[in-house]
Amino acid sequence: MASLYVTGTDTGVGKTLVSTSVLHALRARGLRALGMKPVASGCVRRDGQWQNDDALALRTAGSTPWPDYTTINPFALPEATAPEIAAELASMAVSLAPLLAAHAALAARSDWVVVEGVGGWCAPLAAGIEQADLVSALGKPQVLLVVGIRLGCINHARLTARTVLADGHALAGWIGSVIDPALTHRERTCDILRRELPAPCLGLLAHTASPDPAALAAQIVPSFAR
Ligand SMILES: Nc1ncnc2c1ncn2[C@@H]1O[C@H](COP(=O)(O)OP(=O)(O)OP(=O)(O)O)[C@@H](O)[C@H]1O
Ligand SMILES: [Mg+2]
Repeated sequence: MASLYVTGTDTGVGKTLVSTSVLHALRARGLRALGMKPVASGCVRRDGQWQNDDALALRTAGSTPWPDYTTINPFALPEATAPEIAAELASMAVSLAPLLAAHAALAARSDWVVVEGVGGWCAPLAAGIEQADLVSALGKPQVLLVVGIRLGCINHARLTARTVLADGHALAGWIGSVIDPALTHRERTCDILRRELPAPCLGLLAHTASPDPAALAAQIVPSFAR
């Protein structure tokens, strides 16, 4: 199974930055890699369709030729709110079948598919559809945990890692992204994460003013791809 499911300790913690950096890291190793954002809330109207910035960034970071927008992001929900609410507002019903079809199309033309999840691990995709269900339906790709390095992240990271494992999924590792440049004791915080998380650290992204995924790829060790 050459897919990776990227989850995070919360929304806004660096999942897109890490996912796009992982895509560049895989491509730098000569692999064909494509990104996917199965369900995105918060879209703008472009080229006659609703499009989301994360999905566009994932497409741009992936190998060429780029797939159609809707293959990368089957459910583009206009409102920037929880997927269940955004889907209701758009009179749409999120279901697994279109996601599996799109993922299969991406997998057929790449060595790796990097799937960015929605918010944190326990944010449902829809009423009765957990992200854990999607990961199972995708054939159980390994899960990469993005830890937004800020105060409180140790708790969120441990809770998320425990739940991913309790849901029956495997953790490929975790990557920290420093989202709070003012955090004190950053190194000690990362030391504790290294000690307490049940999976290896595959990278730490320092805080930078304009993060560039192509440059940050060098900070990531894609050991899951070996
Ligand atoms: N290491 C970093 N240095 C500077 N800014 C960062 C860093 N990591 C993340 N950010 C910034 O934090 C914001 C949130 O990051 P990102 O969009 O990757 O989070 P996300 O987890 O994908 O969010 P969402 O849940 O909305 O998909 C972005 O503006 C991003 O550029
Ligand atoms: Mg994102």
